[in-house]
Amino acid sequence: MGIRIIGTGRCIPEKILNNADLERMVDTSDEWIVTRTGIKERHIAESDQTSSDMAAVAAQNALENAGITADMIDLIIVSTVTPDHPFPSTSALVQRKIGAPKCPCFDIEAACSGFLYALNTAYGMMASPLGYKRVLVIGAEKMTSLVDWSDRSTCVLFGDGSAAVVLENDGDPDTPDFYVAGEVAADGSVSDILIVPGGGSACPPTVDSVNEKKHFIKMGGPKTFQLAVTSMVSACRNVLEKSGVDPQDVVWAIPHQANRRIIDAVANKLGIPEKVYLNVDRFGNTSSASIGICLDELNREGKIKKGDLILTASFGAGLTWAALLIRW
Ligand code: UT7
Repeated sequence: MGIRIIGTGRCIPEKILNNADLERMVDTSDEWIVTRTGIKERHIAESDQTSSDMAAVAAQNALENAGITADMIDLIIVSTVTPDHPFPSTSALVQRKIGAPKCPCFDIEAACSGFLYALNTAYGMMASPLGYKRVLVIGAEKMTSLVDWSDRSTCVLFGDGSAAVVLENDGDPDTPDFYVAGEVAADGSVSDILIVPGGGSACPPTVDSVNEKKHFIKMGGPKTFQLAVTSMVSACRNVLEKSGVDPQDVVWAIPHQANRRIIDAVANKLGIPEKVYLNVDRFGNTSSASIGICLDELNREGKIKKGDLILTASFGAGLTWAALLIRW
């Protein structure tokens, strides 16, 4: 069909919060955080810097990388669990900020799996009779807006950032699609293990809900860890099997950057530890921005070439999970 990734971009807030800073905030240590998660530092958005601000910068960088302008975009999808507002969508704000034409825009919420859900959705909409030609897919997260800075079990994990890719259908049947094989999945029976209880229709904001800290991330860490490993391994195996690709032919494996130990466990079970790209040490868990940030780093550092196979996988609240084998 000819649907390719023609550009990538990212936006990383300047301010860095390292483990020594966290040692001064909660009862933790650099040694605990590094050993249990692999995280050394994370970037933190300014108080007035929103998800759509970061998304717009990532989008501009991706457009520039693709060598096209915002007026050429005909669909914008933003994945986020930290929208600027309940409505309008963050994608509509991005459309305005980058000066894109009045194209359709919508947000996807599949937590940390959102970027892969969004890539699947974009591909489906481009390949369908809707026939969108150029699509911006963005993951944008201000995770620190959901972090309880007094909860040591979660506050050490997350960071802020955004990443974007531009997809283009060149209409040439001889151009192979970027989409080789994919899987998206969810299990709502475990939706309580990773949740922000307040702020939605189940628990609208009240003085009590704020005092009871219901607007912050609550997580069953060990259970999430275990499900993360099993779900990502199974999704990757299914995608490799569907595509008939041998794991050794994968050039890069990009798992969601949540925890170094989760990544190692997945890579070892798949037998491809040497192919893994890692940046969780520098950014922490940026939710649905994480895979796009990895892609942009690899792209801009010239570490991927045309035709390379990249295996991506993610998991997140819901529980959602996904894997996508990409041809560059
Ligand atoms: O994108 C999806 C987002 N979620 C995730 O990816 C989370 C997946 N889970 C994990 O990454 C891990 O479960 C954590 C990193 C969150 C926790 O690591 P763990 O090895 O599963 O530790 P644990 O929760 O079993 O806690 C072990 C101990 C506990 O102390 P006790 O009860 O053994 O005395 C915790 O209170 O570590 C303690 N602890 C800490 N100690 C120092 C928890 N957080 C901290 C901390 N510093 N920051």
